[in-house]
Amino acid sequence: MAARSNIKRPLAKFPGPLVLLGAGKMGQAMLEGWLARGLSPKKIIVLEPQPGKAIRTLTRRGLKINPKTPTQASAIVIAVKPQSAPEALPAVRAHVGRTTLALSIMAGRTLRFLQEALPSGTAIVRAMPNTPAAIGRGITVAMPNTYVSARQRRQASDLLAAIGNVEWVRDESLMDAVTAVSGSGPAYVFLLVEAMTRAGIAAGLPAELAARLARETVGGSGELLHRSAHDAATLRQNVTSPGGTTAAALEILMGPGGFDEILKEAVAAATRRSRELAG
Ligand SMILES: NC(=O)c1ccc[n+]([C@@H]2O[C@H](COP(=O)([O-])OP(=O)(O)OC[C@H]3O[C@@H](n4cnc5c(N)ncnc54)[C@H](OP(=O)(O)O)[C@@H]3O)[C@@H](O)[C@H]2O)c1
Repeated sequence: MAARSNIKRPLAKFPGPLVLLGAGKMGQAMLEGWLARGLSPKKIIVLEPQPGKAIRTLTRRGLKINPKTPTQASAIVIAVKPQSAPEALPAVRAHVGRTTLALSIMAGRTLRFLQEALPSGTAIVRAMPNTPAAIGRGITVAMPNTYVSARQRRQASDLLAAIGNVEWVRDESLMDAVTAVSGSGPAYVFLLVEAMTRAGIAAGLPAELAARLARETVGGSGELLHRSAHDAATLRQNVTSPGGTTAAALEILMGPGGFDEILKEAVAAATRRSRELAG
């Protein structure tokens, strides 16, 4: 029984204090996930100039906001915008001790940048989540620096698991392509809904019906893929009978200038931009 409740509350024994720097969209999604997974608000310190009502309410359960005296944290999660980092990071230095793990989810801010901003020798994980994190269905890619211990890596995985699945890489240069595929990827999927809507209207459907069909089709197919044991290609083949309507469409989409080529170009452009932004 005890083992079962631990599975439901995997963060119940997480050592505090946990400092969250920046409680915007991502920071709040993570915070909600941590609480749902059993982390006590008493272990959480939020550093945020304008904390929302939900966070202010949590002070009744022991969460601290912008305390005057810094405490050595077991982990610090950095969730401010990348452009706020130079101004925001000095405030967390005082919370960093010898065994503190710093976990950054800032897009484009490299391990090198973080190492320069934090005390030397700090264990740092650079992570790249994506927006489905807001509903606990994100995918995050994480990269440790050389000071991260096996225990700290497990801690980072536990904290990130609150917003979805986690993959680890050992080569930081992959983070640009990761950003281009999963970081920016939700926008490509939303664009697909928009494009299917426009195509439906062009094929004669009323606008509202076209929008509903496109939205539900993409949402439902995503859910089917998520729940199915089959890969995407098999699911695609399952709805494609030879000589049928789907096959007629796929001939265009999979032909010259189709999905593959366009997406390869788009992902390459996003990868290049990510490299430029990281400097
Ligand atoms: N959203 C995504 O899809 C996504 C995906 C991957 C990675 N990320 C990364 O996640 C991070 C957060 O993104 P977000 O969308 O959650 O941004 P956001 O909603 O703007 O949240 C950032 C929060 O940090 C606060 N902040 C600003 N300066 C601060 C300071 N000096 N000290 C403490 N807090 C400060 C902001 O407060 P104010 O509003 O008062 O300025 C805001 O509440 C970014 O680095 C982004 O690159 C986001």
